Amino acid sequence: MNKLITDIDIIKEGIEEKETCETVKVSLDKDTGKERKLYIESYGCQMNFSDSEIVTSIMQKSGFDTTSDFNEADVVFLNTCSIREKAEQTVRHRLNQFNAVKKRKPDMMVGILGCMAERLKSKLLEEEKVVDLVVGPDAYRDLPSLVAQVDSGHKAVNTFLSKEETYADISPVRLNSNGVTAFISIMRGCDNMCSFCVVPFTRGRERSRDPHSIVEEAETLFNQGFREVTLLGQNVDSYKWSPEINNKARLERSEVSEVVNFAHLLEKVALVSPELRIRFSTSHPKDITDEVLHTMKKYDNICKYIHLPAQSGNTRVLDLMNRTYTREWYINRVDAIRSILGDSCGISSDMIAGFCTETEEEHQDSLTLMDYVQYDFSYMFFYSERPGTLAAKKYKDDIPLTVKKKRLSEIIAKQQNISLARNQMDIGQVQEVLIEGFSKRSDEHLQGRNSANKVVVFPKKQYQKGQYVQVLIKACTTATLSGDIIDQ
Ligand code: SAH
Ligand code: SF4
Ligand code: F3S
Repeated sequence: MNKLITDIDIIKEGIEEKETCETVKVSLDKDTGKERKLYIESYGCQMNFSDSEIVTSIMQKSGFDTTSDFNEADVVFLNTCSIREKAEQTVRHRLNQFNAVKKRKPDMMVGILGCMAERLKSKLLEEEKVVDLVVGPDAYRDLPSLVAQVDSGHKAVNTFLSKEETYADISPVRLNSNGVTAFISIMRGCDNMCSFCVVPFTRGRERSRDPHSIVEEAETLFNQGFREVTLLGQNVDSYKWSPEINNKARLERSEVSEVVNFAHLLEKVALVSPELRIRFSTSHPKDITDEVLHTMKKYDNICKYIHLPAQSGNTRVLDLMNRTYTREWYINRVDAIRSILGDSCGISSDMIAGFCTETEEEHQDSLTLMDYVQYDFSYMFFYSERPGTLAAKKYKDDIPLTVKKKRLSEIIAKQQNISLARNQMDIGQVQEVLIEGFSKRSDEHLQGRNSANKVVVFPKKQYQKGQYVQVLIKACTTATLSGDIIDQ
C-alpha cells in the first residue's frame, strides 16, 4: 500500500487510514482466470474505500479479476475525493502518470469514479484527455454497460444521483482485508449542508440502508472470521429506517417494519455476537443522543470511542459553517459522553483552521475547546474553499495562507501535547486489544486497537490476528501504546 502524505494539509494523528486523508489503497490480486483485469485505487474517506469494494463486486460479476499492478490492467479506476483542493490535485497528478502509461498501452481504459467524477461530470473528459469513463457514486450498477460503451469506442458518463440507491443487495469484495476488521456502509449522502463542505453535492441526499441487510452483512462477516465492523455514514446519528421514509417497494423486500434509529441499529448489530466488536463513524454533535450513549454503555462489544468533529470552538464561526450547534451545545454533548461512558471513552475531532473571517480570538476558542475536551486525537486541516459550496458563494476566503498554516500548526501542537498526556494515562492499565496483524516495524510484534481506538503494539508470543488479548500498557508515543500480553 502506498501512502501519499504531502504537507500539513493532511495531518493524521493516531490511527491508520481514517477519513479524508489522501491515502491510496490499491486492490489486491485476485486471479480466477477471467479474461480482463481491473486495477482500482481509492482516495479519500472510508466511504470511498467501502464503495470500491462494491465496485469490485459489480466488476467481478461482469468478468473482471483484480490486479495490484496497473501495468497488467485492462481497466484502471481511480475512486476519487473532492474534499479539499489538494485531494483533487493528487488525482490530477496521478492521471498525468496514467497518461504516460497509456502511450505504451493505448487499449487501457481509465475511469474516474467517486466524488470528483460527481463534481466535475463530463467536464473531466474535456480537461483530462486520458479519461474514458466518468461515474458518480450512485451509478456503479451501470458500470458494466458503461465499460461496454467505452469498448465500442465511445466515452461514457453517468453522474446521476439517486434518492434511493444504497447497494444493499451487493456483497462487497473485501479489498486489502486483514480478515479481522471491515467496514459496513449503513447510509449514503448527507443533508447537512455545512457551508465549507462539498459532500452534499458529490454524494447527494441522505438515505438509510435496510437494517436487515446491515445485520446480515455483519453476520456473514462474523462467520467468515471477521471480529470488528465499523458502521459508516457521514452522519450516523441521523440513520433512520421507517415505513414512511423508506418507500413501499423497499419495505416489502425488507423484513423490518418498525422504525429503526441509530441506537436501535447499534443494538441489533451488537447482538450478532459478543465476540464481534462494533465501531461507527461519523457522529454529528447536533444529533448524537443520550440513547446512543446508553446503548454503547449497555454492550461491552460496542467500542467506547466517538469521532465527534467540532470543526471550530467558536459559536460565531460554527454558525457561519452552518454546523447548527454552539460551543456550549458541543460541550454539553462531551459532558454527556463523560458522564455516561466515563473518562476512558476515546473522543476524536476534525478541526478546520482559518475559516472565512475567523479572528485570532476565535481561533483561540478552538484551542481552549481542545483543552476542555482532551481529544485522544484529531484530524486537522486548514480551510480550502470548494467551488459551489455555501461558503464559496457567501463568504470571502479572506484568511491568508500563512495565517491559516500558522493557526493549523498551533492546533497540531496542542493536539500532540494532549494525545501524549491522554496516552500516558493508559500506562499501567490492562486493556483488551483485538489483534489485527503484525506491527509495521517488526514481524516479532503484533498490533491491534483498544476499545478507545488507540493502536497498541506488543511482542507476538504465540498469539495471532483475530484473537482478543489483555495487554498491560507499559509505554506510549503521541500516536501509539505499547505493552505486553498478559497470558490467560
Ligand atoms: N461527515 C463528517 C465529515 C466528512 S468530511 C462530519 O460531519 O464531521 C471530513 C472532514 O474534512 C470534515 O470534518 C472537515 O473537518 C474537513 N473538511 C471538509 N471540507 C473541508 C474544506 N473545505 N476545507 C478543509 N477541511 C474540510
Ligand atoms: Fe460535510 Fe457537514 Fe455532511 Fe459532514 S455533516 S459530510 S461536514 S455537510
Ligand atoms: Fe472525499 Fe467524497 Fe469522502 S469528497 S471525504 S471521498 S465523501
